Amino acid sequence: MNIKAENLNKQYTKKNSTDVKILKNINLEIKSGQKIALIGPSGAGKSTLVHILGLMDRPTSGKVYIDGIDYFDKDNKYLHVIRRNYIGFVFQFHYLMPDFTVLENVLIPVWKDKKLKLKQVQDILNKAGVLHRQAHYPSELSGGEQQRVAVVRALINNPRIIFADEPTGNLDGQTGLEIENLLFDIVTDIGATMVLVTHDENLAKKTDRIIRIIDGCIL
Ligand SMILES: Nc1ncnc2c1ncn2[C@@H]1O[C@H](COP(=O)(O)OP(=O)(O)O)[C@@H](O)[C@H]1O
Ligand SMILES: [Mg+2]
Repeated sequence: MNIKAENLNKQYTKKNSTDVKILKNINLEIKSGQKIALIGPSGAGKSTLVHILGLMDRPTSGKVYIDGIDYFDKDNKYLHVIRRNYIGFVFQFHYLMPDFTVLENVLIPVWKDKKLKLKQVQDILNKAGVLHRQAHYPSELSGGEQQRVAVVRALINNPRIIFADEPTGNLDGQTGLEIENLLFDIVTDIGATMVLVTHDENLAKKTDRIIRIIDGCIL
């Protein structure tokens, strides 16, 4: 899917305080199937931008078009359906549900989808190297294994856009590299568009395009 942002602004208004402008007139276009890196210092507005492009948060002004459609015209319930069907997120922290097993955690996004067979889900867990952990709870896994499961969960329903917000920020170098490769492999396999937030210039170089953001502006 193609994503286009036009004149995006985000600001927070607090009583008895000046407004805080987080995003300032952002314009960008990401072509369908493109992998882009969003790079910039902490506090630059990367996560805020990703939340808006991923329809999790609304801008103060401006538009986001996904395949030409302005979804911010719709209510939150509608946005939820679009996210569930077309968008996958991987965050710095895995947000797996502690009371569910690995297999249950990755089945949650697809439990209504009768076409997706248990065997297919297990094939993807196998590819991610965590099939032997399917009956375990998240707390029984290493940080790297937890993040592998989070990647599988984000990609299980074949999303057309993936947002990965510092997906390896919490892991050591080697483990982080393995997660990155897993993410790139699966995203390439399914031909999705990817927006990857990172501090890591080497990782950013693996994408098709680097977008730099500083103090809420694209350079
Ligand atoms: N709810 C909020 N109210 C006020 N300021 C916020 C809020 N959420 C985020 N911010 C501020 O927005 C700025 C950008 O945050 P963020 O998008 O998380 O940056 P990044 O992901 O690049 O580190 C930060 O200065 C942060 O403090
Ligand atoms: Mg962030």
